[in-house]
Amino acid sequence: MANQLLAGKRGVIFGALDDQSIAWHVAEVCAEMGAKFTLTNAPVALRFGQLQELGDRLGAEIIPADATSMEDLENLFQRSEEVLGGKIDFVLHAIGMSLNVRKKKTYTDLNHDWMLKTFDISAVSFHKMCQVLYNGDHMADWGSILGLTYIAAQRTFPDYSEMAESKALLESFARSFGYHFGEKNHVRVNTISQSPTMTTAGKGVKGFDEFFGYADKMSPLGNAPARDCATYCATLFSDLTRYVTMQNLFHDGGFSNMGMNPKLLEG
Ligand SMILES: NC(=O)c1ccc[n+]([C@@H]2O[C@H](COP(=O)([O-])OP(=O)(O)OC[C@H]3O[C@@H](n4cnc5c(N)ncnc54)[C@H](O)[C@@H]3O)[C@@H](O)[C@H]2O)c1
Repeated sequence: MANQLLAGKRGVIFGALDDQSIAWHVAEVCAEMGAKFTLTNAPVALRFGQLQELGDRLGAEIIPADATSMEDLENLFQRSEEVLGGKIDFVLHAIGMSLNVRKKKTYTDLNHDWMLKTFDISAVSFHKMCQVLYNGDHMADWGSILGLTYIAAQRTFPDYSEMAESKALLESFARSFGYHFGEKNHVRVNTISQSPTMTTAGKGVKGFDEFFGYADKMSPLGNAPARDCATYCATLFSDLTRYVTMQNLFHDGGFSNMGMNPKLLEG
């Protein structure tokens, strides 16, 4: 891709686990568009995932961080500024994990200790990340912070379970921090609500294959692929969208505004 939309920008990308991860595609697109960035994931994911291969290929340093640890986050952003040679222009939070979904608990029989852990990993980590960026003064003026979310925050998708509340919390944190960061130094904070996508996190949800097909048929444009989510992220990291903030932006082929698509009855 010849477009150097992100030339000179410095970023931090969370959540690339393997080549299906949405964050993996974001990293590839940001590199193609001229950005420099560091990559981060939980230490355990670095052991089992393929992040090193991506970092080597794109020339990006990998800095391990458990996104629930303030200490890890402080180290991550300090080190990123050193490695990249200045303040950070963009951050992608692409983190989600539900203990109750993983352990196949039904919504009416959830373990609430696990639920709190799910919220911590999937939503409170966004607040922690923003707080460290804000208090450490790590963001460049007119920077951009993005989280990835799902429409289950607004509508009921029963098998998404406690991740629905995680996403509602995440979106609310983004709006609230969007105010504080906007006032501080014109940094924008948004969430992108993405179509179902075949990734490790996505496939962990019960009945995901059937649901993926349903959403694909319901959406006039079909489900949005991960690569297209990545190019949308890049526009929000760029200077072309400087006044977009505190928004939840649907990137879903039209799914969120559909009531019924006759295609679903065609079998
Ligand atoms: N796949 C979908 O259908 C879909 C749809 C809408 C939104 N999303 C969201 O997109 C984001 C990225 O997920 P994905 O689908 O690319 O799946 P993925 O499994 O590739 O990515 C999830 C990432 O979260 C990381 N993670 C988990 N616990 C962590 C911790 N404590 N600290 C740091 N990182 C941690 C994992 O290591 C992994 O890299 C998530 O927020 C997810 O909810 C996914």
